[in-house]
Amino acid sequence: MTYDLIVIGGGPAGYLGAERAGHAGLKTLLIEKRFIGGVCLNEGCIPSKALLYSAKIYDNARYGEKYGITVQNAVLDHEKVIERKNKVVKTLVGGVKAQLKRNNVTVVEGFGEIAGRNSEGYEVKVGNDTYTAKRLLIATGSMPIIPPIPGVREGIEKGFVLTNREILDLKTVPASLVIVGGGVIGLEMASYFNSAGSKVTIIEMLDHIAGNTDREISNILMKNYQKKGIEFKLNAKVVEVKEGSVIYESNGEKFSAEADKVLMSIGRRPVVEGIGLENIGVEIEKGHIKVDERGKTNVPEVYAAGDVNGYSMLAHTAYREAEVCVNNMIGKKDIMRYNAIPSVIYTNPEVACVGETEETAKQKGIDYEVANISMRYSGRYVAENEGGDGICKVLVDKRYRKLIGAHMIGNYASEIIYGAGIMIETEMRVEDIKEIVFPHPTVCEIIREAIFEL
Ligand code: FAD
Ligand code: NAI
Repeated sequence: MTYDLIVIGGGPAGYLGAERAGHAGLKTLLIEKRFIGGVCLNEGCIPSKALLYSAKIYDNARYGEKYGITVQNAVLDHEKVIERKNKVVKTLVGGVKAQLKRNNVTVVEGFGEIAGRNSEGYEVKVGNDTYTAKRLLIATGSMPIIPPIPGVREGIEKGFVLTNREILDLKTVPASLVIVGGGVIGLEMASYFNSAGSKVTIIEMLDHIAGNTDREISNILMKNYQKKGIEFKLNAKVVEVKEGSVIYESNGEKFSAEADKVLMSIGRRPVVEGIGLENIGVEIEKGHIKVDERGKTNVPEVYAAGDVNGYSMLAHTAYREAEVCVNNMIGKKDIMRYNAIPSVIYTNPEVACVGETEETAKQKGIDYEVANISMRYSGRYVAENEGGDGICKVLVDKRYRKLIGAHMIGNYASEIIYGAGIMIETEMRVEDIKEIVFPHPTVCEIIREAIFEL
């Protein structure tokens, strides 16, 4: 049977692409080897957020006294937290399956490998079966980078070195947890396991955490974490992992950190091997599939979306990229823009950013103006964040007076940031934003307050 489209990979890029294609009337086949929903639904975005929400409730109970609430004997029951997480995942995966069905997408379980091309289109093998389609959407996602550090591979086999996959299913809370990599996964997992009672140490090779996040914000986040007892070893390089300890080097000296479990979270790499890309000549650049702004690869009618193209490695980017691909397949003009994609770190407090940081603006030679205010300018933030020290920074292009970046640390930031994203996407000027009426009292008013500083 020949399809209009075969999608390889059932994560956010794959399932959404398949749904949109089915909706547009394309006869669509989705091939998924492990789990519909991909990393995001099964071992990424959703399970981590379920855990973090349980930790937040627990912390609110434990530290409720400053709000006049005393809870005695609050307990975080990790097993129940994991049980609930599994329920949340099941519900959402069920929802995605239903959506695929509703959009007439045929789903095949198994490993898809591109075999070649015939007169009808591209051939994809799944076991002994071969499927053909006029178009392909490659959405095979990414996997954790496992560094060649002595002891790491052995540790993974023995179960004391974990990736995001295993840590989200740990049966018990480890007494001590060393996290290698102070990026997004490391910080979110540190947040949960610190609340759950582990002694958490983060080892980061750079002199700061949270990657490209605005430096002032990542410093505030680090200070908040240090107050909660999380230890940071910056400028530190792990040289060996043993059962019970991690050996790292810093300033030429060797140190050891106690570790019942070790989480490796030093980044992810696109899945481009073993899927037959070479059989049709798809170009790979620096380890990811090379695509243009329409999501097209160098091979006609072969598209790629999501982590596999190496652009942003976020689920919401994957969604939009998949839509752009499908729109181009059906002859609708659409291009991918990356300048207003929000990024959020779901720690407590949350961090949310969109657009240029001061660092990137300087690199690009943009003449900018910045307003940097305390989140305490928001009445609701003060009412709900006793002792909170969050900030909101907005960057404006000096010449055009357009918003080009917004960065916040403080709760609800994750739910607010899209507003700033819209302003950047639609190229709103300071004067336009000043005319917007924000609901009061809300934390989102902070954007208005910051803009009025300019
Ligand atoms: P994936 O979700 O990786 O899906 C790819 C799918 O393809 C997989 O299901 C895989 O089994 C399948 N596959 C691969 N090869 C084949 C093959 N040959 N045949 C058949 N199937 C195949 N992003 C956010 O935006 N917000 C978050 O809060 C967030 N939290 C995260 C937390 C963690 C712990 C992790 C690890 C990631 C998180 N991410 C988050 C990133 C997000 O999960 C990814 O950006 C997103 O899943 C990418 O979607 P994708 O469809 O490209 O790939
Ligand atoms: P990351 O790129 O965010 O962070 C990796 C960190 O590890 C960096 O700070 C890097 O300097 C450090 N590092 C690299 N090699 C190291 C080494 N040998 N020793 C010590 N430190 C080292 O990658 P992470 O946390 O693995 O997450 C992968 C991706 O998943 C993210 O880039 C993001 O796209 C996605 N993600 C998104 C989330 C969100 O949106 N909230 C949550 C979790 C993951």
